[in-house]
Amino acid sequence: MTIRIIPTTPIAGQKPGTSGLRKKTPVFMGHHYLENFVQSIFDVVGAAGKTFVLGGDGRYFNDRAAQVILRMAAANGAARVIVGQGAILSTPAASHLIRLNKTDGGIIMSASHNPGGPEEDFGVKFNMPNGGPAPEGVTEAMYRRTTEITEYRIVEAQDLDLSRVGRTALAGMVVDVVDPVADYAALMETLFDFGAIRAMFASGFRMRMDSMCAVTGPYAVEILERRLGAAPGTCVNAVPLPDFGGMHPDPNPTWAKALMDEMFGDAAPDFGAASDGDGDRNMVVGRGIYVSPSDSLAVLAANAHLAPGYAQGLKGVARSMPTSAAADRVAAALGIGHYETPTGWKFFGNLLDAGRATICGEESFGTGSDHVREKDGLWAVLLWLNILSVRKQTVAEILAEHWARFGRNYYSRHDFEAIATEKADAMMGALRGALAGLKGQVVEGMVIAAADDFAYTDPVDGSVSTKQGVRVMFEDGSRFVLRLSGTGTEGATLRMYLERFAPGPDGLDLDPQAALAPVIAAAHGLARIAEFTGRTAPDVVT
Ligand code: G6P
Ligand code: ZN
Repeated sequence: MTIRIIPTTPIAGQKPGTSGLRKKTPVFMGHHYLENFVQSIFDVVGAAGKTFVLGGDGRYFNDRAAQVILRMAAANGAARVIVGQGAILSTPAASHLIRLNKTDGGIIMSASHNPGGPEEDFGVKFNMPNGGPAPEGVTEAMYRRTTEITEYRIVEAQDLDLSRVGRTALAGMVVDVVDPVADYAALMETLFDFGAIRAMFASGFRMRMDSMCAVTGPYAVEILERRLGAAPGTCVNAVPLPDFGGMHPDPNPTWAKALMDEMFGDAAPDFGAASDGDGDRNMVVGRGIYVSPSDSLAVLAANAHLAPGYAQGLKGVARSMPTSAAADRVAAALGIGHYETPTGWKFFGNLLDAGRATICGEESFGTGSDHVREKDGLWAVLLWLNILSVRKQTVAEILAEHWARFGRNYYSRHDFEAIATEKADAMMGALRGALAGLKGQVVEGMVIAAADDFAYTDPVDGSVSTKQGVRVMFEDGSRFVLRLSGTGTEGATLRMYLERFAPGPDGLDLDPQAALAPVIAAAHGLARIAEFTGRTAPDVVT
């Protein structure tokens, strides 16, 4: 087979964001766009003699991109690629395969929770041999490479048949097409008490799992319906579609509205969950009660020991800075370490590798543990099921007991989407400029205790990340955080994270938006959001 060396020139803007390179699909399908980026990955990490994992969330262009990446891996001298059947792998399953097979990393094709389709989003990211997303130093090197690239390598060959499990070869490179679900499901069986969960379903426990026409469908059907005996039909939107059936596969109350309506309706099942495009995010809902991701992290940390995989206890709990401090209270009670990192799962990697943290979570519907190096939507769902099967209480009862014991961190996130980038930057710039003078000011009856732009020094490798979000903290323990999203593909999204602590025993069952009203008003006033952006109300509330 012929290896072709194709001359190319740099394409502007191939800078990976919070989680890989994400662009509109037509951009990715443009002349040499995918090829330039993939060659830059191989140039940085080296491909000769190496083994990689490859898979994606099945969105439009996933299958075509996989064929290109395989041809380029072969041309760059890779020894072996393990690829999910149909080029499908959920992000946590890809992370697991990278680790299980002790490979040199993997390429994941996904734009996560962003819509898919010919006019929607596509993405590519590289994960390291530990199974986690490449750290900033590596993605920066890849970006630099894209600015100087002059050629890429690709073999001339027909498409490989990825529809059948088994070993084939491409220009001397071994290609192992594997069942995308089997190894992942086996890992879950080692962590959770499948017998107890099966018994709960057998006794009439009802669940709704909404895979939002994205990648977790086959995983959910196999694990929940086949292995755990949930009623057939428990899993809905369970066939991954290239355009996610037109859904916006982001599991939050706005985009998973059908699930919310069902869980708050008369015939609500006992437990509901949804996951995102590539299967790393999750939302959990009880009958008539929404569980905020920050509370979910805290409840999982407080109860993880009820699952066999965590029976020996947790080493520590980590959360991203904008996530509520509810998990910190659990860590303090357990006498274990807690860590506050910048937004982005990659910041948990060192803590997990160093054995400092076992469970991690983010307000952005991400929860996971040291079983892989990505957040893991179905893992969170299964840990909840394991806890429910042991405690034999409703989700509402578990939350009420949790708040009575630890106090309640009322929490909400308000998103203002598709703001012109200059306006959002000007607003953040003005707020940053005003930070130094905020301490001691009284706003909405609350005294500002401190205000800063969050910076993080990684306790393991000492690396420093600055400008990770503006925080305004009040003396009563309330706070708000403002940052711009790092995952969008168009304009800017302003995220406003709101938190207020109620120690209890009174005032633990307020509506979060009402409880947070003064903090919301303070954030709008101090950041002058309407003045800079013209926005007075959020587009998404989680
Ligand atoms: C991705 C990352 C998460 C992160 C989230 C933040 O999903 O994997 O770790 O929390 O992006 O997104 P944002 O849009 O707020 O930058
Ligand atoms: Zn995702």
